[in-house]
Formats: sequence, structure tokens, C-alpha cells
Amino acid sequence: MGTCGVGKTHLSVAILRELIEKKGVPCLFYEFGSLMKEIQNSYSPVSQTSELTVLAPVMEAEVLVLDELGAAEPTDWVRDTMMQVINARYNDKKLTIFTTNYADTRRTPAEETLEDRIGARLRSRLYEMCKTVMIEGEDFRRRFDS
Ligand SMILES: Nc1ncnc2c1ncn2[C@@H]1O[C@H](COP(=O)(O)OP(=O)(O)OP(=O)(O)O)[C@@H](O)[C@H]1O
Ligand SMILES: [Mg+2]
Repeated sequence: MGTCGVGKTHLSVAILRELIEKKGVPCLFYEFGSLMKEIQNSYSPVSQTSELTVLAPVMEAEVLVLDELGAAEPTDWVRDTMMQVINARYNDKKLTIFTTNYADTRRTPAEETLEDRIGARLRSRLYEMCKTVMIEGEDFRRRFDS
């Protein structure tokens, strides 16, 4: 968890690379919004892939990074699909690394929490699946601003 540019994606990718290169662990990386789009595109009649072709590797990967959890607009369909994917990994006790810009507490009354974005049932599962790492710091991208 952390605000933008603190290095969440960078660290997650570093973990995956180490697992793949040094230990040969089958890993997968997905940015959450892209995963939702790929699943949606698979419904199109001209699509070469089926929903299951997209979902199976996501459910089966030994280690999965789901980057930017909560970033996709939380429609009913997005919530149901997120639940399907994450619940499958929860039931199989598979390791998943999530990153998110959303926190559990609001800093301003208007700010949305992770629970607002992904729903209470999913947030509850994540407490059991994950250890929370709060990353605090400056936006690394600002160092390019001179
Ligand atoms: N420890 C680090 N040392 C040097 N550069 C870093 C480090 N961590 C991140 N960076 C660089 O800083 C930039 C932002 O990092 P990253 O994309 O991981 O942030 P993020 O937390 O995922 O942000 P967002 O919430 O916007 O997705 C990238 O260019 C990344 O390569
Ligand atoms: Mg990121």
C-alpha cells in the first residue's frame, strides 16, 4: 500500500524476477485494469480467446502480482470478477502480491478506502491472505523534475 511513485510496482517486479531467475518459480504479473479489459475483450464474438483462457493462468500461477488493486472502476461486473479470481487463489492458498494506492483509513472525508473500491468481502479475505506493507515516501518520479 502506498501513494503513487513510492516504488510498489518496482518492488513487486523485483520479487517476481528473483523468484523466476533464481528459483524457477512459475510467476505471473498483471496490472489489474488490463486483466479486467482482457477478460471483457474475450466476450467479444470475434475474440480468439475465451474467459477461461485468460483466467486459468491467473488462478493457477504459483505466485501472482496483481498491480493496482482497486484502480478499475468498481462496477458490479468488476467486483464479481475480482472476487472470482481472488477467491480461487484464496481457496487454493496461493501466494499473491497486491499493490494499491488505496489505504484502509481516510486522510480526508472524501477519500475512498480500499474497502470502498473492492468491497468488504474481498478486503476481509485479503487480511487473511496478505501481510500489509505500507510504503511511505516521496514520489520517485519527481526526481526527473528539475
Ligand atoms: N528503490 C528504488 N530505487 C530507484 N528507483 C526506484 C525505486 N523504486 C522505484 N523506483 C522508480 O521510481 C518510479 C516509480 O516507481 P513505481 O512505478 O514502482 O511506483 P508505484 O508505487 O508503483 O507508483 P503508482 O502507485 O503510481 O503505480 C519508477 O521509475 C521506478 O523504477
Ligand atoms: Mg505502480
